[in-house]
Amino acid sequence: MKVGDMDDFQQQVVLVTGGTGNLGQAVIRAFLASGARVAAVVRKPGDAAAVFAADAPAERCRAVVGDLMDESSVAGLARQTLDAFGRIDVLVNTAGGIRAGTPLHETSLQDWDFMMNLNARTVFLMARAVIPTMLARQQGRIISIAARAALKGTARHGPYNASKMAVIRLTETMSAELKGRGINVNCILPGTIDTPANRAETPDADFSKWVSPESLAGVILFLASPAAADIHGAAIPVYGRS
Ligand SMILES: NC(=O)c1ccc[n+]([C@@H]2O[C@H](COP(=O)([O-])OP(=O)(O)OC[C@H]3O[C@@H](n4cnc5c(N)ncnc54)[C@H](OP(=O)(O)O)[C@@H]3O)[C@@H](O)[C@H]2O)c1
Repeated sequence: MKVGDMDDFQQQVVLVTGGTGNLGQAVIRAFLASGARVAAVVRKPGDAAAVFAADAPAERCRAVVGDLMDESSVAGLARQTLDAFGRIDVLVNTAGGIRAGTPLHETSLQDWDFMMNLNARTVFLMARAVIPTMLARQQGRIISIAARAALKGTARHGPYNASKMAVIRLTETMSAELKGRGINVNCILPGTIDTPANRAETPDADFSKWVSPESLAGVILFLASPAAADIHGAAIPVYGRS
């Protein structure tokens, strides 16, 4: 099954954070191929031109500029999307990242705050900015990206593991609050994603076992589709064969 066949998103507006990222790019392509209108979050105005492919349908593409760490900026991202397309049906929180490598007792407060802010606070702020407009229509999907690493503490990854665990708990919380009001909230747990950065970091790994951004985008499209109407508060493992 091609991703584009999975569902018809012709009437849908999808707001994707991390538009310049590996997964964000795949998610944007997949939703555009399915007919959606896509607002992609970029941090720098200079990235706006590059976030969509040159042959993407301009009338269905909008770059929205802001810093996901900043409360007022995030409110502006929701506003820019509503100004452009009039509604938000789906929020996909792909923005996030990793800083790791020190045992917890040697980890700086700066690194702790960075992980919690980048992975957990961004989901909190973005969801909080978008939920009111979804509630007004009693309709919406919120899909966030946690990680397999959220399920278990591992050495030298304390703040990262904790921040991704927070994404799962926030997902469950929002789901409990919103599932009776037409809004589905779920997250996915990628294993290692097949990205240029991961290949460069572990060149001897078997890349074929990793999960591709396109494969993850397919799962995200499924969660946004009518077929997933009864899925609430899930944390779906998508590990490839790793
Ligand atoms: N890569 C993996 O193996 C792996 C495994 C498990 C889970 N994940 C999770 O999967 C998601 C996608 O991963 P990825 O590899 O696609 O990440 P990526 O390529 O590093 O992309 C991260 C995106 O987040 C954006 N971003 C970061 N801070 C921001 C801020 N303050 N405001 C606005 N945007 C901001 C980046 O924008 P800029 O381009 O401006 O920096 C970029 O678009 C992340 O949540 C990651 O934690 C990844």
